[in-house]
Amino acid sequence: MSEIETVLNAYAERFNRDLAAYFPSSDAPERRAAKAMAYSLLNGGKRLRPFLLHETAALFGMAYDKAFPVAASLEMLHTYSLIHDDLPAMDNDDLRRGRPTCHKAFDEATAILAGDGLLTYAFEVLNTADIPAAQKVELTLLLSRAAGAFDGMIAGQVLDLYTDTHHELANPEEVIKHTEALKTGCLLRYPCEAGAVLGGAGEEERQILIRFSRNLGIAFQITDDVLDVEGDEKLVGKTLQKDKKQHKLNFVSIYGVERAKKIASDLINEAEELLSAFNPRAERLKMLSRYFLTRNH
Ligand code: IPE
Ligand code: IPE
Ligand code: MG
Ligand code: MG
Ligand code: MG
Repeated sequence: MSEIETVLNAYAERFNRDLAAYFPSSDAPERRAAKAMAYSLLNGGKRLRPFLLHETAALFGMAYDKAFPVAASLEMLHTYSLIHDDLPAMDNDDLRRGRPTCHKAFDEATAILAGDGLLTYAFEVLNTADIPAAQKVELTLLLSRAAGAFDGMIAGQVLDLYTDTHHELANPEEVIKHTEALKTGCLLRYPCEAGAVLGGAGEEERQILIRFSRNLGIAFQITDDVLDVEGDEKLVGKTLQKDKKQHKLNFVSIYGVERAKKIASDLINEAEELLSAFNPRAERLKMLSRYFLTRNH
């Protein structure tokens, strides 16, 4: 196992333990959606977004515990996006994080409600953080926008669903960059920006982290698209070979695997250079960036 994988595993173990505290178990009938939320959230998941948030905040000396509710809320919101992404009306997936998707394990209506529940709970949990009120307001705004239907994740999901390989596009690279920057990039930009807010970073540092996160977001989604083609289903924990069947437009469908990998690798080289502004504190973030290229799940 590589050094970053060891670090990530240790992080995920601690993060998962703390996350479980938000979900008291109950068999009461009205807690069915809450049970489905816990099912999707608490088992599996690489926890890359909260890790990124914690590591970015740590650049400025912020401690794990203080940043935890902010990181937890992001993972809740991300998990909601996955539950809805898997629904029959969207990607129609049966497998997620190595287990049946939420609507398979429960039913479709419960999965919709579980997604709604995680989205709502995310903002409740974010606002329980022991941080200044002004930071809560700023983070609430940033997270809402990152997840939203104007310039956020939902807008990206719209492009993903309604622009497919059948479309004749004048500039497919621009369209796909825009799609991936929205659907995946926004929720990877947020942890970098939130880390800067929590850590009290200056404007210049914040802008460097935003630029870093842009490259990271696109490279991350390229690797996801590559894994769909050449990953090992047991490791990835999702049904593979689906993007082509569903005519998804992405870097792999436009350029093929090798060229897509090269684009991702160039983006990560640039991202690493940006981090040099934080030397020597950014070593783990650099390792994480590289991992975005080499991950096998
Ligand atoms: C999957 O994200 C959805 C994409 C944006 C490609 P992750 O690959 O981070 O999924 P988990 O959280 O580890 O399951
Ligand atoms: C999903 O992208 C991005 C989200 C906003 C959830 P994908 O549809 O490619 O993600 P996977 O492959 O199902 O995880
Ligand atoms: Mg999708
Ligand atoms: Mg999907
Ligand atoms: Mg995918």
